[in-house]
Amino acid sequence: MDFYDVIATRRSIRSYKPDPIPLPVLERILEAVRRAPSANNKQPWRLVAVTDKGKREQIAASGSYAKFLSKSPLIIVGVGDPATAPDRYIIDTSIALEHVVLAATAEGLGSCWVCSFDEKLVKKLLGIPETMKAIAIIALGHSQDAVNVMGILGKLLRPSKKTEELFALHSYTRVWNGEEYDKLPPE
Ligand SMILES: Cc1cc2nc3c(=O)[nH]c(=O)nc-3n(C[C@H](O)[C@H](O)[C@H](O)COP(=O)(O)O)c2cc1C
Repeated sequence: MDFYDVIATRRSIRSYKPDPIPLPVLERILEAVRRAPSANNKQPWRLVAVTDKGKREQIAASGSYAKFLSKSPLIIVGVGDPATAPDRYIIDTSIALEHVVLAATAEGLGSCWVCSFDEKLVKKLLGIPETMKAIAIIALGHSQDAVNVMGILGKLLRPSKKTEELFALHSYTRVWNGEEYDKLPPE
């Protein structure tokens, strides 16, 4: 899939078929994650893949917006290491997790970020050392629905902000203007 198609088709998926993700597909995704950038190339993270239904159910029950984790056949828990990169581990782990999301989309899989979970419980269940931080979880699986009605509805109700709101030119308060950018003389 073309990169911009990946971006355009990605939506948070919260309803999954039980079918497992084939190993070659998962390996391609992991390879895409391995190439993620990180500050000073510290790679201060470890991603824990969890298929165990019992554990997924417990994690799902621990968050108000995490119930579907019991249904996605695979969840990936992003664990950051503050000791390796004290100021950057959250950013670096998040970049790695977004690589999971984008690669999964390119593979035709559904995914969803989840930050609503009991970190203490997740750490205990997965044997994550005390010093590490469980930052976020990505649910992965084949979408249950041919058309992601909830995703489309969600975007209609809460659409992406407008370009003018999200981007600025030259200074924070100056609204982005493509024409002006285009007219800038080369330095
Ligand atoms: C850091 C982060 C945390 C999120 N946590 C949750 C969550 O706990 N539960 C959930 O259902 N969705 C969660 N989401 C998904 C967002 O709700 C979703 O990305 C947003 O509504 C935009 O919809 P879209 O992903 O379909 O474009 C999270 C997304 C991000 C980036």
